[in-house]
Amino acid sequence: MFMKSGKMLVFALLMTVFPTLARENGERWNDTDGNLINAHGGGVMYHDGRYWWYGEHRPDKGGTTQVGVTCYSSDNLQDWKYEGVALPVVEGDPMGVEPGCIVERPKVIYNASTGKYVMWFHHELKGQGYAAARAAVAVADSPAGPFRMISSSRVNPGKSPRNLAITSSTPEYDKDREWWTPEWREDVEAGMFVRRDLEGGQMSRDMTLFVDDDGKAYHIYSSEENLTLHIAELNDDYTDHSGKYIRIFPGGHNEAPAVFKKGGKYWMIASGCTGWEPNEARLMTSDSIMGEWTRLQNPCKGEMAEKTFMGQSTYVLPVEGKDGSFIAIFDRWNPKSLSDSRYLWLPVSFDDDGTPEIHWADSF
Ligand code: GAL
Repeated sequence: MFMKSGKMLVFALLMTVFPTLARENGERWNDTDGNLINAHGGGVMYHDGRYWWYGEHRPDKGGTTQVGVTCYSSDNLQDWKYEGVALPVVEGDPMGVEPGCIVERPKVIYNASTGKYVMWFHHELKGQGYAAARAAVAVADSPAGPFRMISSSRVNPGKSPRNLAITSSTPEYDKDREWWTPEWREDVEAGMFVRRDLEGGQMSRDMTLFVDDDGKAYHIYSSEENLTLHIAELNDDYTDHSGKYIRIFPGGHNEAPAVFKKGGKYWMIASGCTGWEPNEARLMTSDSIMGEWTRLQNPCKGEMAEKTFMGQSTYVLPVEGKDGSFIAIFDRWNPKSLSDSRYLWLPVSFDDDGTPEIHWADSF
């Protein structure tokens, strides 16, 4: 009894000193002003002693963007200060980043040679559902923005992937053709959608960014009607593609990619394509960012692992100063009210062979 009340006392004292001692995964998370953190499908950048969390501001009702990309900062990954709207949607924006468009999965990286912060996100045009499938880029002089739009487009027009030359013998797309037949699958593998979109550029929906140890950055996105992931190298200032890209797991239906690197190995966590509904996470690995990538088993373990703990991957954050320590970040979507979607921040552990595993934890 004494032990119990003693422990309670220590806990109560700690709570007074450190008000957000832990974050309950799947509960409502507030910022340091006491407001709900609204930053979904997000990414976290560490820069100059601070973490910067960027995410989709989601409305209480509906699936379109009414505010933009929000930004929060923290020096301890627990207390998040609201830094405002880093990239606002603006009525009549000539780039189409206007209320009613869709802004998803924003990620920000810092470019040391230009001194600029570069944001990439999935951009859909107002009134067009998910048809535009564009990647958009915005830059800023400071991490909280304001970010200035520089482009919004399909990816790498006119370029063949490095691991598949598109030629006149690549199967042609026919809009009336039946999907999911074995022959159709073969043609998807053979680059039918890449050929269809060659001139105007490849589709880009769910996406992430990854900066390698040599400073080269990559845009990893669901392309080809969400059937195939592409990994595209960025140019030196991170504001455009270099033209070099590969496609991986053609027809594999992977979304929500999150990439990290440990001990020279590249790892990717992704989801299947079931919209806001959770599905079983996937794990992929490669010795080089440009492949060959191999698919492994579900990285999630334990109860609800087959539904990714009711979440979907968005980012894997290396913990600064703790080499080999990573936090896997997931969204638990609530399509009835997307603003009330929850966050799961789970530690990544590694098994005896060095393969990542993710176990449920009540709190972060
Ligand atoms: C999910 C995707 C989300 C969002 C959603 C819309 O599959 O990962 O980013 O696009 O579909 O239904």
